[in-house]
Amino acid sequence: MRILGIETSCDESAVCLIDAEGSFGSDFQFKVLGNSLNSQIAIHAQYGGVFPNLAKREHAKNLVPLLEQTLSEAGMSLDTYTDISAYADKLREILAREPELYTQLLDFFSKNTKREHSNILQNVGMLQKPEIDAIAVTVGPGLEPALWVGINFARALSLVWNIPIVAVNHMEGHFVSALLRDDEGFRFQVSGNSEINTKTYNLEPITYPLLALLISGGHTELVLSSKLHDYKILGATRDDAVGEAFDKVARLLGLPYPGGAELSALAERARKSHEMSSQSIEMTSHWMLPRPMLHDKTLDFSFAGLKTAVLRLVEAEGSRRSDLPGRSDLLEFRMQIAREFEDAVTEVLVAKTMKAVDEYGVQTVVVGGGVSANGFIKSRIAEALEKAGLPRPLVPSRELATDNAIMIALAGYFRAKNRDFVNPDMLKANGNLKLA
Ligand code: KG4
Ligand code: ZN
Repeated sequence: MRILGIETSCDESAVCLIDAEGSFGSDFQFKVLGNSLNSQIAIHAQYGGVFPNLAKREHAKNLVPLLEQTLSEAGMSLDTYTDISAYADKLREILAREPELYTQLLDFFSKNTKREHSNILQNVGMLQKPEIDAIAVTVGPGLEPALWVGINFARALSLVWNIPIVAVNHMEGHFVSALLRDDEGFRFQVSGNSEINTKTYNLEPITYPLLALLISGGHTELVLSSKLHDYKILGATRDDAVGEAFDKVARLLGLPYPGGAELSALAERARKSHEMSSQSIEMTSHWMLPRPMLHDKTLDFSFAGLKTAVLRLVEAEGSRRSDLPGRSDLLEFRMQIAREFEDAVTEVLVAKTMKAVDEYGVQTVVVGGGVSANGFIKSRIAEALEKAGLPRPLVPSRELATDNAIMIALAGYFRAKNRDFVNPDMLKANGNLKLA
Protein backbone atom coordinates (compact mmCIF):
# COMPACT_ATOMS: atom_id res chain seq x y z
CA MET A 1 0.00 0.00 0.00
CA ARG A 2 1.39 3.37 -1.00
CA ILE A 3 0.73 6.25 1.35
CA LEU A 4 1.43 9.91 0.70
CA GLY A 5 2.25 11.61 4.02
CA ILE A 6 1.73 15.32 4.66
CA GLU A 7 2.90 17.13 7.80
CA THR A 8 2.43 20.86 8.56
CA SER A 9 1.61 21.01 12.27
CA CYS A 10 4.37 23.37 13.32
CA ASP A 11 7.42 24.78 11.55
CA GLU A 12 8.33 21.85 9.30
CA SER A 13 6.61 21.33 5.96
CA ALA A 14 7.06 17.73 4.89
CA VAL A 15 5.78 15.36 2.22
CA CYS A 16 6.73 11.73 1.66
CA LEU A 17 5.64 8.61 -0.14
CA ILE A 18 5.99 5.24 1.56
CA ASP A 19 5.21 1.69 0.61
CA ALA A 20 4.06 -0.53 3.45
CA GLU A 21 2.64 -4.03 3.80
CA GLY A 22 1.52 -6.26 6.64
CA SER A 23 0.02 -5.74 10.06
CA PHE A 24 1.29 -4.01 13.18
CA GLY A 25 3.55 -6.96 13.97
CA SER A 26 6.29 -9.22 12.66
CA ASP A 27 5.01 -9.37 9.07
CA PHE A 28 5.23 -5.60 8.64
CA GLN A 29 7.42 -4.21 5.84
CA PHE A 30 8.12 -0.61 5.08
CA LYS A 31 10.01 1.37 2.48
CA VAL A 32 10.39 5.06 1.78
CA LEU A 33 9.95 5.86 -1.91
CA GLY A 34 10.36 9.61 -1.66
CA ASN A 35 10.83 12.05 1.18
CA SER A 36 11.24 15.79 1.42
CA LEU A 37 11.17 18.33 4.20
CA ASN A 38 11.50 22.06 4.50
CA SER A 39 12.35 23.44 7.90
CA GLN A 40 11.31 27.00 8.69
CA ILE A 41 13.59 27.21 11.70
CA ALA A 42 15.80 29.89 10.17
CA ILE A 43 12.74 32.04 9.44
CA HIS A 44 11.26 31.77 12.92
CA ALA A 45 14.62 32.01 14.69
CA GLN A 46 14.74 35.76 14.20
CA TYR A 47 11.56 36.07 16.30
CA GLY A 48 12.70 33.55 18.90
CA GLY A 49 9.69 31.27 18.35
CA VAL A 50 7.14 30.04 15.82
CA PHE A 51 4.64 32.57 14.46
CA PRO A 52 1.53 30.60 13.38
CA ASN A 53 0.58 32.85 10.47
CA LEU A 54 4.09 33.01 9.17
CA ALA A 55 4.28 29.21 9.42
CA LYS A 56 1.01 28.95 7.50
CA ARG A 57 2.32 31.14 4.68
CA GLU A 58 5.54 29.15 4.44
CA HIS A 59 3.71 25.80 4.34
CA ALA A 60 1.52 27.12 1.52
CA LYS A 61 4.64 28.10 -0.40
CA ASN A 62 6.48 24.82 0.24
CA LEU A 63 3.98 22.03 -0.30
CA VAL A 64 3.84 21.81 -4.10
CA PRO A 65 7.67 21.86 -4.52
CA LEU A 66 7.91 19.21 -1.78
CA LEU A 67 5.30 17.07 -3.52
CA GLU A 68 7.14 17.38 -6.83
CA GLN A 69 10.42 16.43 -5.19
CA THR A 70 8.84 13.46 -3.44
CA LEU A 71 7.17 12.12 -6.59
CA SER A 72 10.30 12.55 -8.65
CA GLU A 73 12.40 10.79 -5.99
CA ALA A 74 9.88 7.98 -6.12
CA GLY A 75 10.36 7.86 -9.88
CA MET A 76 6.67 8.42 -10.43
CA SER A 77 5.79 9.47 -13.92
CA LEU A 78 4.02 12.79 -13.82
CA ASP A 79 2.46 12.69 -17.26
CA THR A 80 -0.61 10.61 -16.58
CA TYR A 81 -2.55 12.82 -14.25
CA THR A 82 -6.03 13.88 -15.01
CA ASP A 83 -7.14 17.18 -16.51
CA ILE A 84 -8.28 19.37 -13.65
CA SER A 85 -10.53 21.82 -15.51
CA ALA A 86 -13.57 19.98 -14.17
CA TYR A 87 -12.37 20.56 -10.61
CA ALA A 88 -11.22 24.17 -10.83
CA ASP A 89 -14.18 25.67 -8.95
CA LYS A 90 -14.14 23.16 -6.14
CA LEU A 91 -10.36 23.49 -5.87
CA ARG A 92 -10.65 27.24 -5.56
CA GLU A 93 -13.17 26.74 -2.79
CA ILE A 94 -10.96 24.26 -0.92
CA LEU A 95 -7.91 26.50 -1.18
CA ALA A 96 -9.73 29.82 -0.72
CA ARG A 97 -7.44 30.69 2.20
CA GLU A 98 -4.29 29.50 0.47
CA PRO A 99 -4.34 31.41 -2.84
CA GLU A 100 -0.65 30.84 -3.44
CA LEU A 101 -1.02 27.12 -2.96
CA TYR A 102 -4.02 27.14 -5.30
CA THR A 103 -2.02 28.80 -8.08
CA GLN A 104 0.92 26.46 -7.63
CA LEU A 105 -1.32 23.42 -7.60
CA LEU A 106 -3.07 24.47 -10.82
CA ASP A 107 0.34 24.90 -12.42
CA PHE A 108 1.41 21.52 -11.12
CA PHE A 109 -1.61 19.76 -12.58
CA SER A 110 -1.54 21.54 -15.92
CA LYS A 111 2.18 20.85 -16.26
CA ASN A 112 1.53 17.18 -15.65
CA THR A 113 -1.49 16.69 -17.83
CA LYS A 114 -1.39 15.34 -21.32
CA ARG A 115 -4.39 17.09 -22.70
CA GLU A 116 -5.16 14.93 -25.73
CA HIS A 117 -4.93 11.85 -23.57
CA SER A 118 -6.90 13.00 -20.63
CA ASN A 119 -9.78 14.17 -22.78
CA ILE A 120 -10.09 10.77 -24.36
CA LEU A 121 -9.75 9.02 -21.01
CA GLN A 122 -12.35 11.23 -19.37
CA ASN A 123 -14.67 10.58 -22.23
CA VAL A 124 -14.51 6.88 -21.58
CA GLY A 125 -14.93 7.58 -17.87
CA MET A 126 -11.42 6.67 -16.77
CA LEU A 127 -9.82 8.82 -14.18
CA GLN A 128 -6.04 8.94 -14.20
CA LYS A 129 -4.28 9.01 -10.87
CA PRO A 130 -0.85 8.20 -9.51
CA GLU A 131 -0.29 4.89 -7.78
CA ILE A 132 -1.12 6.12 -4.30
CA ASP A 133 -3.63 4.28 -2.13
CA ALA A 134 -4.23 6.89 0.56
CA ILE A 135 -3.21 10.36 1.67
CA ALA A 136 -2.26 10.65 5.35
CA VAL A 137 -2.39 14.14 6.79
CA THR A 138 -1.76 15.53 10.27
CA VAL A 139 -4.96 17.01 11.69
CA GLY A 140 -3.63 17.83 15.19
CA PRO A 141 -2.30 18.59 17.68
CA GLY A 142 -0.36 21.63 16.53
CA LEU A 143 -0.85 25.18 15.32
CA GLU A 144 -4.28 25.36 13.68
CA PRO A 145 -3.43 27.84 10.91
CA ALA A 146 -0.48 25.61 9.99
CA LEU A 147 -2.50 22.36 10.19
CA TRP A 148 -5.18 23.76 7.87
CA VAL A 149 -2.71 24.21 5.03
CA GLY A 150 -1.78 20.52 5.05
CA ILE A 151 -5.43 19.50 5.39
CA ASN A 152 -6.60 21.65 2.48
CA PHE A 153 -3.71 20.44 0.37
CA ALA A 154 -4.70 16.84 1.12
CA ARG A 155 -8.34 17.60 0.25
CA ALA A 156 -7.31 19.15 -3.07
CA LEU A 157 -5.17 16.14 -4.04
CA SER A 158 -7.83 13.74 -2.85
CA LEU A 159 -10.42 15.45 -5.03
CA VAL A 160 -8.41 15.49 -8.24
CA TRP A 161 -6.81 12.10 -7.84
CA ASN A 162 -9.81 10.43 -6.22
CA ILE A 163 -7.65 9.04 -3.41
CA PRO A 164 -9.04 8.59 0.11
CA ILE A 165 -7.69 10.50 3.13
CA VAL A 166 -6.76 9.24 6.59
CA ALA A 167 -6.52 11.75 9.44
CA VAL A 168 -3.40 11.34 11.57
CA ASN A 169 -2.71 12.40 15.14
CA HIS A 170 0.79 13.91 15.16
CA MET A 171 1.61 12.25 18.51
CA GLU A 172 0.70 8.81 17.15
CA GLY A 173 3.22 9.56 14.40
CA HIS A 174 5.90 10.31 17.00
CA PHE A 175 5.03 7.06 18.75
CA VAL A 176 5.06 4.64 15.79
CA SER A 177 8.19 6.14 14.21
CA ALA A 178 10.18 4.98 17.24
CA LEU A 179 9.46 1.36 16.26
CA LEU A 180 11.10 1.20 12.80
CA ARG A 181 14.11 -1.11 12.49
CA ASP A 182 15.99 -2.84 9.69
CA ASP A 183 16.86 -6.58 9.72
CA GLU A 184 19.99 -5.96 11.71
CA GLY A 185 18.19 -3.94 14.34
CA PHE A 186 19.42 -0.58 13.08
CA ARG A 187 17.08 2.34 13.38
CA PHE A 188 15.56 3.99 10.36
CA GLN A 189 17.84 6.40 8.50
CA VAL A 190 16.82 9.15 6.16
CA SER A 191 19.57 9.69 3.70
CA GLY A 192 20.29 11.20 0.34
CA ASN A 193 21.94 7.91 -0.42
CA SER A 194 19.40 6.02 -2.47
CA GLU A 195 20.76 2.68 -1.30
CA ILE A 196 19.70 3.45 2.25
CA ASN A 197 16.47 5.06 1.18
CA THR A 198 15.23 1.95 -0.55
CA LYS A 199 16.03 -0.29 2.39
CA THR A 200 13.18 -2.27 3.88
CA TYR A 201 12.28 -1.73 7.52
CA ASN A 202 10.26 -3.73 10.03
CA LEU A 203 8.80 -3.06 13.44
CA GLU A 204 10.52 -3.69 16.73
CA PRO A 205 8.67 -6.49 18.57
CA ILE A 206 6.58 -5.20 21.45
CA THR A 207 5.66 -6.84 24.73
CA TYR A 208 2.60 -5.18 26.25
CA PRO A 209 1.74 -3.18 28.24
CA LEU A 210 3.67 -0.47 26.47
CA LEU A 211 4.43 2.96 27.86
CA ALA A 212 5.25 5.86 25.55
CA LEU A 213 6.95 8.95 26.89
CA LEU A 214 6.17 11.53 24.22
CA ILE A 215 8.28 14.64 24.59
CA SER A 216 8.26 17.40 22.01
CA GLY A 217 8.10 21.15 21.61
CA GLY A 218 4.37 21.13 22.21
CA HIS A 219 3.72 18.03 24.32
CA THR A 220 4.83 16.00 27.29
CA GLU A 221 2.78 12.90 27.85
CA LEU A 222 2.97 9.45 29.36
CA VAL A 223 0.75 7.14 27.33
CA LEU A 224 -0.18 3.55 28.15
CA SER A 225 -1.06 1.19 25.33
CA SER A 226 -2.13 -2.44 25.21
CA LYS A 227 -2.60 -2.60 21.45
CA LEU A 228 -2.37 -0.38 18.38
CA HIS A 229 -4.83 2.55 18.48
CA ASP A 230 -5.60 1.91 22.13
CA TYR A 231 -4.21 4.70 24.29
CA LYS A 232 -4.63 5.94 27.82
CA ILE A 233 -3.00 9.20 28.88
CA LEU A 234 -1.49 8.56 32.30
CA GLY A 235 0.04 11.97 32.77
CA ALA A 236 0.81 15.17 30.91
CA THR A 237 2.36 18.54 31.48
CA ARG A 238 0.24 21.10 33.28
CA ASP A 239 2.03 24.02 31.66
CA ASP A 240 5.09 24.09 29.38
CA ALA A 241 6.16 21.06 27.35
CA VAL A 242 9.70 19.74 27.86
CA GLY A 243 10.90 21.00 24.46
CA GLU A 244 9.29 24.36 25.14
CA ALA A 245 11.15 24.59 28.46
CA PHE A 246 14.42 23.67 26.72
CA ASP A 247 13.80 26.36 24.11
CA LYS A 248 12.85 29.06 26.64
CA VAL A 249 15.85 28.37 28.86
CA ALA A 250 18.10 28.26 25.79
CA ARG A 251 16.79 31.69 24.87
CA LEU A 252 17.54 33.01 28.36
CA LEU A 253 21.10 31.82 27.86
CA GLY A 254 21.32 33.62 24.54
CA LEU A 255 21.10 30.54 22.29
CA PRO A 256 19.20 30.78 18.99
CA TYR A 257 15.73 29.22 18.58
CA PRO A 258 14.85 26.35 18.93
CA GLY A 259 17.83 25.89 21.24
CA GLY A 260 17.03 22.47 22.77
CA ALA A 261 19.88 20.62 21.08
CA GLU A 262 22.38 23.44 21.70
CA LEU A 263 21.43 23.70 25.34
CA SER A 264 22.00 19.98 25.69
CA ALA A 265 25.40 20.30 24.01
CA LEU A 266 26.36 23.01 26.52
CA ALA A 267 25.24 20.76 29.37
CA GLU A 268 27.41 17.96 28.01
CA ARG A 269 30.38 20.29 27.83
CA ALA A 270 29.80 21.22 31.46
CA ARG A 271 29.76 17.53 32.45
CA LYS A 272 33.03 16.95 30.63
CA SER A 273 34.74 19.97 32.16
CA HIS A 274 33.38 18.97 35.57
CA GLU A 275 35.26 15.69 35.23
CA MET A 276 38.43 17.73 34.85
CA SER A 277 38.00 20.44 37.48
CA SER A 278 36.46 20.51 40.93
CA GLN A 279 35.63 24.21 40.72
CA SER A 280 32.48 23.64 38.73
CA ILE A 281 31.02 21.35 41.42
CA GLU A 282 31.07 24.24 43.88
CA MET A 283 29.48 26.53 41.37
CA THR A 284 26.63 24.16 40.65
CA SER A 285 25.68 23.79 44.26
CA HIS A 286 24.68 27.47 44.32
CA TRP A 287 22.44 26.94 41.39
CA MET A 288 20.38 23.96 42.32
CA LEU A 289 17.14 24.13 40.32
CA PRO A 290 13.83 22.66 41.51
CA ARG A 291 12.63 19.21 40.36
CA PRO A 292 8.99 20.16 39.74
CA MET A 293 6.37 17.60 40.84
CA LEU A 294 9.04 14.97 41.44
CA HIS A 295 7.32 13.66 44.57
CA ASP A 296 3.81 14.39 43.48
CA LYS A 297 1.39 11.44 43.49
CA THR A 298 0.25 11.96 39.90
CA LEU A 299 2.10 11.22 36.68
CA ASP A 300 1.76 14.85 35.60
CA PHE A 301 4.60 17.25 34.88
CA SER A 302 5.20 20.97 35.20
CA PHE A 303 8.16 22.72 33.62
CA ALA A 304 7.22 26.40 33.63
CA GLY A 305 8.73 26.95 37.09
CA LEU A 306 12.14 25.81 35.90
CA LYS A 307 12.27 28.55 33.31
CA THR A 308 11.35 31.15 35.95
CA ALA A 309 14.02 29.79 38.29
CA VAL A 310 16.62 30.04 35.52
CA LEU A 311 15.47 33.58 34.73
CA ARG A 312 16.11 34.58 38.37
CA LEU A 313 19.59 33.05 38.28
CA VAL A 314 20.39 34.82 35.03
CA GLU A 315 19.19 38.14 36.43
CA ALA A 316 21.17 37.71 39.66
CA GLU A 317 24.25 36.70 37.75
CA GLY A 318 23.80 39.65 35.39
CA SER A 319 23.80 42.21 38.16
CA ARG A 320 26.66 40.50 40.00
CA ARG A 321 28.81 40.61 36.88
CA SER A 322 27.75 43.97 35.51
CA ASP A 323 31.16 45.47 36.26
CA LEU A 324 33.21 42.60 34.94
CA PRO A 325 31.46 40.54 32.28
CA GLY A 326 34.34 38.25 31.31
CA ARG A 327 33.45 36.13 28.29
CA SER A 328 34.87 32.84 29.48
CA ASP A 329 33.22 33.33 32.86
CA LEU A 330 29.93 33.82 31.17
CA LEU A 331 30.39 30.65 29.16
CA GLU A 332 31.12 28.74 32.36
CA PHE A 333 27.94 30.15 33.90
CA ARG A 334 25.84 29.16 30.90
CA MET A 335 27.34 25.69 30.84
CA GLN A 336 26.54 25.11 34.50
CA ILE A 337 22.99 26.36 34.14
CA ALA A 338 22.47 24.20 31.06
CA ARG A 339 23.71 21.16 32.93
CA GLU A 340 21.64 21.81 36.02
CA PHE A 341 18.55 22.39 33.86
CA GLU A 342 19.04 19.21 31.86
CA ASP A 343 19.71 17.26 35.07
CA ALA A 344 16.53 18.61 36.67
CA VAL A 345 14.33 17.84 33.64
CA THR A 346 15.85 14.39 33.20
CA GLU A 347 15.44 13.48 36.86
CA VAL A 348 11.72 14.27 36.70
CA LEU A 349 11.21 12.48 33.35
CA VAL A 350 13.01 9.36 34.58
CA ALA A 351 11.19 9.31 37.93
CA LYS A 352 7.73 9.69 36.37
CA THR A 353 8.48 7.14 33.66
CA MET A 354 9.63 4.60 36.24
CA LYS A 355 6.65 5.35 38.46
CA ALA A 356 4.35 4.56 35.53
CA VAL A 357 6.38 1.43 34.67
CA ASP A 358 5.95 0.28 38.22
CA GLU A 359 2.28 1.08 38.61
CA TYR A 360 1.20 -0.49 35.32
CA GLY A 361 3.60 -3.43 35.01
CA VAL A 362 5.00 -1.95 31.80
CA GLN A 363 7.14 -4.26 29.61
CA THR A 364 8.15 -1.96 26.75
CA VAL A 365 9.04 1.73 26.95
CA VAL A 366 9.02 4.00 23.90
CA VAL A 367 10.46 7.51 23.93
CA GLY A 368 9.31 9.69 21.03
CA GLY A 369 9.04 13.33 19.94
CA GLY A 370 11.66 15.96 19.18
CA VAL A 371 13.23 15.86 22.65
CA SER A 372 13.88 12.13 22.22
CA ALA A 373 16.86 13.29 20.15
CA ASN A 374 18.42 14.14 23.53
CA GLY A 375 21.12 11.58 24.27
CA PHE A 376 21.37 12.36 27.98
CA ILE A 377 17.66 11.81 28.62
CA LYS A 378 17.66 8.58 26.60
CA SER A 379 20.69 7.16 28.39
CA ARG A 380 19.26 7.96 31.84
CA ILE A 381 15.98 6.30 30.99
CA ALA A 382 17.88 3.28 29.62
CA GLU A 383 19.87 3.02 32.88
CA ALA A 384 16.74 3.17 35.03
CA LEU A 385 15.03 0.52 32.91
CA GLU A 386 18.06 -1.73 33.07
CA LYS A 387 18.05 -1.47 36.86
CA ALA A 388 14.42 -2.56 36.81
CA GLY A 389 15.35 -5.54 34.62
CA LEU A 390 13.65 -4.12 31.51
CA PRO A 391 14.99 -3.70 27.97
CA ARG A 392 16.27 -0.39 26.63
CA PRO A 393 13.66 2.12 25.49
CA LEU A 394 12.65 2.09 21.83
CA VAL A 395 13.58 5.44 20.34
CA PRO A 396 13.40 6.94 16.85
CA SER A 397 16.53 7.71 14.88
CA ARG A 398 17.59 11.34 15.04
CA GLU A 399 15.92 12.15 11.70
CA LEU A 400 12.61 10.67 12.77
CA ALA A 401 12.67 12.23 16.25
CA THR A 402 11.81 15.73 15.09
CA ASP A 403 8.82 16.46 12.87
CA ASN A 404 8.71 14.72 9.49
CA ALA A 405 6.19 13.22 7.05
CA ILE A 406 7.42 9.64 7.33
CA MET A 407 5.97 9.24 10.81
CA ILE A 408 2.63 10.59 9.55
CA ALA A 409 2.56 8.23 6.55
CA LEU A 410 3.48 5.32 8.82
CA ALA A 411 0.74 6.06 11.37
CA GLY A 412 -1.60 6.72 8.43
CA TYR A 413 -0.84 3.32 6.90
CA PHE A 414 -2.27 1.46 9.89
CA ARG A 415 -5.40 3.63 9.71
CA ALA A 416 -5.71 3.12 5.95
CA LYS A 417 -5.30 -0.62 6.37
CA ASN A 418 -8.36 -0.51 8.65
CA ARG A 419 -10.11 1.55 5.97
CA ASP A 420 -10.39 4.31 8.53
CA PHE A 421 -10.97 6.94 5.83
CA VAL A 422 -12.51 10.32 6.47
CA ASN A 423 -14.87 12.47 4.43
CA PRO A 424 -12.53 15.16 3.05
CA ASP A 425 -15.15 17.87 3.49
CA MET A 426 -15.56 17.01 7.17
CA LEU A 427 -11.85 17.27 7.96
CA LYS A 428 -10.92 19.82 10.60
CA ALA A 429 -7.71 20.99 12.20
CA ASN A 430 -7.70 20.40 15.94
CA GLY A 431 -4.87 22.18 17.73
CA ASN A 432 -5.57 20.25 20.94
CA LEU A 433 -6.33 16.84 19.47
CA LYS A 434 -5.83 14.14 22.10
CA LEU A 435 -4.60 10.59 21.63
CA ALA A 436 -7.32 9.36 23.96
O1 KG4 B 1 8.62 16.97 17.79
P1 KG4 B 1 9.22 18.26 17.42
O2 KG4 B 1 10.07 18.35 16.19
O3 KG4 B 1 8.11 19.36 17.26
C1 KG4 B 1 6.93 19.33 18.00
O4 KG4 B 1 6.04 18.50 17.67
O5 KG4 B 1 6.87 20.11 18.95
O6 KG4 B 1 10.05 18.76 18.69
C2 KG4 B 1 10.83 19.92 18.65
C3 KG4 B 1 11.40 20.17 20.03
C4 KG4 B 1 12.03 21.56 20.16
O7 KG4 B 1 11.56 22.13 21.36
C5 KG4 B 1 13.51 21.26 20.25
O8 KG4 B 1 14.26 22.20 20.98
C6 KG4 B 1 13.51 19.93 20.93
O9 KG4 B 1 12.45 19.23 20.32
N1 KG4 B 1 14.77 19.20 20.76
C7 KG4 B 1 15.61 18.91 21.78
C8 KG4 B 1 16.73 18.24 21.23
N2 KG4 B 1 16.52 18.14 19.88
C9 KG4 B 1 15.32 18.73 19.62
N3 KG4 B 1 15.50 19.16 23.11
C10 KG4 B 1 16.50 18.73 23.89
N4 KG4 B 1 17.60 18.08 23.44
C11 KG4 B 1 17.75 17.82 22.14
N5 KG4 B 1 18.83 17.17 21.70
ZN1 ZN C 1 6.31 16.85 16.80
